[in-house]
Amino acid sequence: MKIKDFNIAKLLESLPTGLILIDQNKIIIEANPEAKKLLGRKIESKNIESVCKNLEENLFDDILSGKHIERSVFESGDLLIGFSASPVYGNNGNVVGSSIILRDITEIREMEEELRKKDRLAALGEMVAGLAHEIRNPLASIKAGIESLSFNGSENTNNYKFQSIVLHEITRLERIVNDMTVYASDRDLVKTKVNLKSLVGETLLMFSHEIAEKNIQVKKNLKGNLVCYVDRDKIVTVLNNLFLNAMESIGENGCIELNIRRGKKNMIIQVKDDGGGIPPDIIPKVFIPFFTTKSKGTGLGLSIVHRIIQNHNGTIKATNEGKGACFTIALPKEK
Ligand SMILES: Nc1ncnc2c1ncn2[C@@H]1O[C@H](COP(=O)(O)OP(=O)(O)OP(=O)(O)O)[C@@H](O)[C@H]1O
Ligand SMILES: [Mg+2]
Repeated sequence: MKIKDFNIAKLLESLPTGLILIDQNKIIIEANPEAKKLLGRKIESKNIESVCKNLEENLFDDILSGKHIERSVFESGDLLIGFSASPVYGNNGNVVGSSIILRDITEIREMEEELRKKDRLAALGEMVAGLAHEIRNPLASIKAGIESLSFNGSENTNNYKFQSIVLHEITRLERIVNDMTVYASDRDLVKTKVNLKSLVGETLLMFSHEIAEKNIQVKKNLKGNLVCYVDRDKIVTVLNNLFLNAMESIGENGCIELNIRRGKKNMIIQVKDDGGGIPPDIIPKVFIPFFTTKSKGTGLGLSIVHRIIQNHNGTIKATNEGKGACFTIALPKEK
């Protein structure tokens, strides 16, 4: 096509922005292909208010009486549409209609939400680091003090029993503080060349006793070359936490399925179990620090997992599949 063959109609056809023209009765008289893609193929001759729902009341009356709309949003099916509108004037200076510009901003909104979530989690990370630091020292002093109490070798006194209970609770608190430190630990990764097949083997070995005792079957589906560049210790922590949760959910007599495969850009790691699954209303909360439904849980397991995967520039998703829960990780495999 020669340059002279270009005209304004061609430009509007190829524009990746939706453009609509309405008359003073709010009827759509023109819509370019992008506008039809966003709002539906048969929008011409329809009233704009029947096409753009959930808008402020009288918005188009305002536009048709000369008001400019810089930025507004409405929903169309699954899409979030951003739009701006300006009045169109006739020769006599009266408003004869309006031109409307539409953009699909669904992805932008999702990205903004993701960024807000990251900011919130980063702030939380700092708070957790501060708290862990503040708790660790007094806890160590309390432990030393309690341990130094002596009860003349008698194990039958109440004081001796209280000492055991307090020491037991201190150990629990130490575990929580330790988890908090892991959660808040610095983002620096020590990446090396890791074969996920052998890493999985070693991780499972740590659970072998419990797996046998609880009659849990582990189905491994490890396909192809599974070498990637990751922080080995941190990925072991990830798998540990996912296996622990799966086993806690199963209790006894069940199955954990571990699938790892090489995608185009990512390693895909999936840990599935056939426990009761995650109640759908708590799925959005499981990666939030301290969220737990277990009486003895701290709720830091999955938030540590989430943070490690994020630091690797990967993603993790929690879903339910079949009878149980399924965690899917995508880890960039490049150096
Ligand atoms: N495999 C799973 N099946 C069902 N629910 C799960 C599973 N994994 C996690 N959850 C839910 O997500 C919550 C948060 O998990 P997370 O590992 O962060 O904390 P926790 O296991 O409760 O405690 P912690 O890991 O700190 O001991 C759990 O309390 C549970 O409700
Ligand atoms: Mg857990």
